[in-house]
Amino acid sequence: MRAVAVGATGATPEPMDLPAPRPAAGEVLVELAAASVNPIDAGIAEGRLPMPRVFPLVLGVDGAGRVTEVGEEVRGLAAGDLVHGQFLRAPLGHGTFAQYTVVTETPDSGALQPIPDGMPADVAAALPTAGMTALGALDAMGLRSGQSLLIAGATGGVGVFAVQLATARGVEVIATARPDADRWIRDLGAAATVDYTTGDVAALVRRSHGAVDAVLDLTDDPARFAANAALVRDGGAAVSVALVAGEDLLASDRIAVSNFMMRDKPDLLARITAEAAAGRISVPIQRAIALSEVPGALRRGAGARGKTVVRI
Ligand SMILES: NC(=O)c1ccc[n+]([C@@H]2O[C@H](COP(=O)([O-])OP(=O)(O)OC[C@H]3O[C@@H](n4cnc5c(N)ncnc54)[C@H](OP(=O)(O)O)[C@@H]3O)[C@@H](O)[C@H]2O)c1
Repeated sequence: MRAVAVGATGATPEPMDLPAPRPAAGEVLVELAAASVNPIDAGIAEGRLPMPRVFPLVLGVDGAGRVTEVGEEVRGLAAGDLVHGQFLRAPLGHGTFAQYTVVTETPDSGALQPIPDGMPADVAAALPTAGMTALGALDAMGLRSGQSLLIAGATGGVGVFAVQLATARGVEVIATARPDADRWIRDLGAAATVDYTTGDVAALVRRSHGAVDAVLDLTDDPARFAANAALVRDGGAAVSVALVAGEDLLASDRIAVSNFMMRDKPDLLARITAEAAAGRISVPIQRAIALSEVPGALRRGAGARGKTVVRI
């Protein structure tokens, strides 16, 4: 089968011809129709996720496809079922940038569930990691209608869901966006935008809005996170999804600061998928690429507008 994999930790991801995997007891074989790209894919290639791994290590955690074979002891899935989710499991290496993958029926580190009737594979593959993260992070912040929220990194995979989910809760969203994404992110619900290419986001927001009730920071710079957290009113919350909140800030008794860790993925996946299936959120897909284009997409530069999906 065709797959995108690395031969060793730190190697450059490349398309390879590999034997299709076989399902062991408790596993299902899935023929993938689509996958989507997340920053964690490049992180896994570089060895940043401390989990056991097998080589060649097929990359990709999000996917959607059809169960073609089930191993012994599989009770809840059968050949022919359409499934999607975060195919994250130990050992790493059975990823979704491939024609086939094997996954445990109940992934130890991810989440798998049926695709709702009528949901396209692209959409089902785009949702899992980014959607679960946005929903879980907003739940953790406990915002009320009428409060204000700065979302830094709003135009990327997690951000496009966070903007919509927060807006639906009556929260006033201030979104970072390049000028050419301004209208688009407002159409997704942002009440205001700041162009982070023209200066320091915290300074721009302080000037235009003053303090905010909360910050959801999806960018990966500790100093930037600290500056954004300083915008938060006493009693508010600042969450780092890229896990860059330092010890001093985490100890703050002025505001609630946290590094976001996802919990109860099956529940999050079911809820975010239900939001999309009911049309309460849209699933912005910036582009659809072929498997052969995945290595380039993993090195993606600036200019994110939602999700990149892989048609397999
Ligand atoms: N803790 C968890 O469980 C968890 C789960 C999922 C993701 N994550 C992490 O969350 C982060 C976001 O993931 P993602 O999928 O949304 O990534 P993404 O699709 O690459 O989006 C990143 C966004 O940040 C924007 N950005 C970059 N620099 C910025 C700056 N200085 N100020 C404001 N915005 C800036 C980018 O805009 P441009 O492209 O226009 O520059 C892009 O919109 C990643 O670090 C990822 O590893 C953590």
